[in-house]
Amino acid sequence: MPSRQHEKFTNFYQVEHPLISSKLTLLRDKTTNQKLFRELVHEITLLLAYEATQLLPTKEVEIQTPMEKTLCHTLAGLDPVILPILRAGIGMVDALSSLLPQAKVGHIGLFRNEQTLQPENYYFKIPEDSEKRRFFVCDPMLATGRSAVRAIDTLKERGVKDITFLCVLAVPEGVETMFKHHPDVKIYSASMDRQLDEHAYILPGLGDAGDRLFGTH
Ligand code: URA
Repeated sequence: MPSRQHEKFTNFYQVEHPLISSKLTLLRDKTTNQKLFRELVHEITLLLAYEATQLLPTKEVEIQTPMEKTLCHTLAGLDPVILPILRAGIGMVDALSSLLPQAKVGHIGLFRNEQTLQPENYYFKIPEDSEKRRFFVCDPMLATGRSAVRAIDTLKERGVKDITFLCVLAVPEGVETMFKHHPDVKIYSASMDRQLDEHAYILPGLGDAGDRLFGTH
């Protein structure tokens, strides 16, 4: 499944696959109901995660098949951490956990400080030894990029070095912001949409991902 690296934002990979395109079409459709929306986010995340995990290190192990001993490969190193940005990021956790069943799951919650207009943490919990672990940060929408940048700032303040970001939709504004602040963080997305509107919603987009996942609109 090829992922296309962006010419200008070299940390951005658009994962291209006929299954992703057709699931994305259903996801964008405003008549798609909550159950199907949730399932589609799950399925698209599985496909994104296949690409986003391709650089995980492996090590050789010897096992015994019913026939003979053989050398095989297994994931090496400490188990990674999945970090959803609350709340919409939660919609991507089950898919990542099913592929990485040993992964820890952290959480980060951000709100917008109405004075500074900057995102601030209201909740942050990750494993003690996180600086040694690989992180997969997820949020379906990379819109302004401010929350993603703040979440990654927070991880780096705790010494985390190896971070990959997964989203369903991104826009150039958000990718540029991430590239400016964290060019080392690889972003895997199912689409690069056109732009943000005046309320920082993605166009053509899919609306409010959290509301559509959790039925709160
Ligand atoms: N968050 C959403 O849920 N939707 C957008 O379009 C932008 C940010």
